[in-house]
Amino acid sequence: MDQVKIFTPASVANVSCGFDVLGFCLDSIGDVMKVSRTKNKGVTIGIINGQELPKDPLKNVASVAASALLKAHPTIGGFQIDIEKRIKPGSGIGSSAASAAGAVFAINELLGKPYSRNELVQYAIAGESLASGAAHADNLAPVLLGGFTLVRSNKTLDIIKLPSPKDLVATIIHPKIELKTIHSRAILKNEIPLKKAVEQWGNLGAFISALYTNDYELLSRSMKDKVIEPTRAILIPKYKEIKQAAIDTGALGSGISGSGPSIYALSKGEFAAKEVGQAMKTYYDEIGLDYEVHYSNINNEGVRVL
Ligand code: HSE
Repeated sequence: MDQVKIFTPASVANVSCGFDVLGFCLDSIGDVMKVSRTKNKGVTIGIINGQELPKDPLKNVASVAASALLKAHPTIGGFQIDIEKRIKPGSGIGSSAASAAGAVFAINELLGKPYSRNELVQYAIAGESLASGAAHADNLAPVLLGGFTLVRSNKTLDIIKLPSPKDLVATIIHPKIELKTIHSRAILKNEIPLKKAVEQWGNLGAFISALYTNDYELLSRSMKDKVIEPTRAILIPKYKEIKQAAIDTGALGSGISGSGPSIYALSKGEFAAKEVGQAMKTYYDEIGLDYEVHYSNINNEGVRVL
């Protein structure tokens, strides 16, 4: 095989209670990438459609991740990456993770799959670190493994795939402003009061238990963020109102998607998710801010060959 075309999905990180460790994979939005073998060694970026992104292999998230893989697995020749970028950078739904994970997944396919999906995270993380200034795998893990994932350690990349209750449907509203992860991380405090930490790990533990037991009520009670949301909420127009509207309309929970500005909600069933989307968007209609709304099931497969 000399060429492979893949779909690499968007994802929601943090999921309120699991900053930098929890995430889930979406299926209705993602990028398409084509990776081809080349005679010359190394990684080059070919065509990029959809967004303005650097073609310099040292600055593009996809080629940086791909080069990390090739460093560990030398091969004759190299690879060219073409990207149809449908996930907007700085939107909060794992744009850089999709590029980084997609690149290493596609090359692994062309090499005859020497690595498992879990092992690919260690290479993809080089791309994610370039984009956000920190090595965290909470978007990469769901893209590569599918479903919900927990990163027990971002240092050793000890990653656990979690079950996905089948009725969960995500609503994502993306106000069209760009918020770079590197900036929304820079405003975070380095220390958290013990009381808040206790609440947060109580919620994270309960959330994970709820995934295993299909307990939607417990899931709902656990989608709380006492640590990060209070600091970041000010960056997102009408955040509090939109989150409240989602919950009042029946969402199990709602919060900042990744580092924002997108806001996500999880609901039980598609009908509920659509009602929630209608309620969320009224606030941006009122102030005339452009936005996009996505509805998605939980993508249990992750990145895939097309
Ligand atoms: N956990 C990350 C953050 C996700 O919130 O900064 C975005 O990369």
